[in-house]
Amino acid sequence: MKKVISITIISFICMLLTACSSSGNVVTASKQKMTDAAKEPAQRTELESDAEEAQMPVFLPETEQQTEAEPVDAHSDILVAYFSATGTTKGVAEKIASITGADLYEILAAEPYTADDLNYSDPGSRATTEQNDKNARPAIGSSDISLEGYSTIYLGFPIWWGEEPRILDAFVEKYSFEGITVIPFCTSGSSGIGRSGTNLEALAGNGSWLAGERFSGSVSEDELQSWMEGLK
Ligand SMILES: Cc1cc2nc3c(=O)[nH]c(=O)nc-3n(C[C@H](O)[C@H](O)[C@H](O)COP(=O)(O)O)c2cc1C
Repeated sequence: MKKVISITIISFICMLLTACSSSGNVVTASKQKMTDAAKEPAQRTELESDAEEAQMPVFLPETEQQTEAEPVDAHSDILVAYFSATGTTKGVAEKIASITGADLYEILAAEPYTADDLNYSDPGSRATTEQNDKNARPAIGSSDISLEGYSTIYLGFPIWWGEEPRILDAFVEKYSFEGITVIPFCTSGSSGIGRSGTNLEALAGNGSWLAGERFSGSVSEDELQSWMEGLK
């Protein structure tokens, strides 16, 4: 009987020793992970370490997740493209861009217009000669622009002899306005926009063209704002 009791006590002591030894392995493994973490502190967050020890998936807050980089050339979907020989239309274009947050693109003549070129009292001046020739297409000097990504274009110009300058004809023939709403606007001494918008629409051959509007150089941002709100 004594023998039986002794064997039982010895077996119990052995079981106790085995249990202690397994629990020690878990601690060792955990310590090993902490050692690894200490080796790469810059690449490990506390969240990741905790999750790894607990064998859980890591759900980082949104700000810490890797996101795709923003395209470098992100721009507005509105463009204000304009030609201005003496700065009046440019001023209005800048106001429209400021109200709408649009991008600005200046249509420059490859050969800039001099004061003599613009002399409308001279029937032989460059501007007058060009306006008398429906097929005149003065070369554009500004860098090409991609219209991709623009849904609306405000197209500005001065009135020359009752119409759009021929360089505007060159501009609309050069680009495609497919899928774009085009809103013509002009400045002038007193004439209205007349048939300029419809001329440009016909030459462009595509795009959705709204009726244009004439402004004086001193038009206010409030006036421009209410014009925009009434556009259909
Ligand atoms: C060659 C030429 C012809 C013009 N013809 C007209 C016209 O027919 N009606 C009018 O009201 N103003 C006319 N103007 C005045 C311009 O339309 C006006 O000064 C315009 O605001 C100028 O814009 P810009 O400074 O952007 O070039 C003419 C100007 C030039 C140079």
